[in-house]
Amino acid sequence: MTEDTLRCEIVKFGALLYARGLAHGSAGNLSIRLDDGAILVTPTNSSLGSLTPVKISKVSPAGDLLAGNPPSKEAFFHLAVYEERPSAKAIVHLHSTHAVALSCICHDDSANVLPPLTAYQMMRVGRLPLVPYYRPGDRKLAEAVRRLAGGHKAMLLANHGPIVSGTSLQDAVHSFEELEETAKLFFLVGNRPVSLLTCEAIVELSEAFPS
Ligand code: 13P
Repeated sequence: MTEDTLRCEIVKFGALLYARGLAHGSAGNLSIRLDDGAILVTPTNSSLGSLTPVKISKVSPAGDLLAGNPPSKEAFFHLAVYEERPSAKAIVHLHSTHAVALSCICHDDSANVLPPLTAYQMMRVGRLPLVPYYRPGDRKLAEAVRRLAGGHKAMLLANHGPIVSGTSLQDAVHSFEELEETAKLFFLVGNRPVSLLTCEAIVELSEAFPS
C-alpha cells in the first residue's frame, strides 16, 4: 500500500473505533510502520473520530517529525514496540472503558492480568502483562514498554490502557477489540466460579493458530 493509502487507513480505523465508543475525547493513538522504518502516527491531541490524512504525523525511527502535525506524545512507545517486534506493522493504543478498568484494579500476577476465558482471547491477545505506571508521554514509559514488547502482542499500561500490535492496522484493531471484549467478560463474570481454559486447551490453540 502507498503512504497515502496507509494515511487513509488510519483515518478510516480511527473513525470506526470512535463510532464504536472505543475511543473518546482526544485519547488514544494509532500508528503504522512504513517499509523504510519511519512510522505514520496520529497527531497529539487529535480526536480519532475526525482525523485528516495530510495531518497524520510521519516520524523517523529516531523520533524526529518528518511530515504532518506534531505527533502523539506516545510516539516513543510505538517506536519501541516496532523495534522489539519485527512482525509488528501497526499499533492501537486506546483508553477503552473495560480495559482501563482492568488496568486500575490490583493484580496478584503482573505477568498476566487476564485469566484464560476464551479461545479467541488466547488466539488474538495471549498473555497480558501489566506495565508499571508512568505518566503519558514519559520516556520511562516507552522503556518499560520496550522491556515487555518482544514477548507480547498486547500489554496493559497501569492506570492508563492497552497497547496492541498487529501485522496490519486491521489485524491490530481485531486484537484490540478482542481484548476490550474479554475485559468486559472478566467484569461480567465477576466473582462467580469460572471454568477457565485448561493448559492443554491453550497449548492446542497455540499449535493450531500460531501468531
Ligand atoms: P496523544 O494525544 O499525544 O496521542 O495522547 C493521547 C493518549 O492516549 C496518551 O496516552
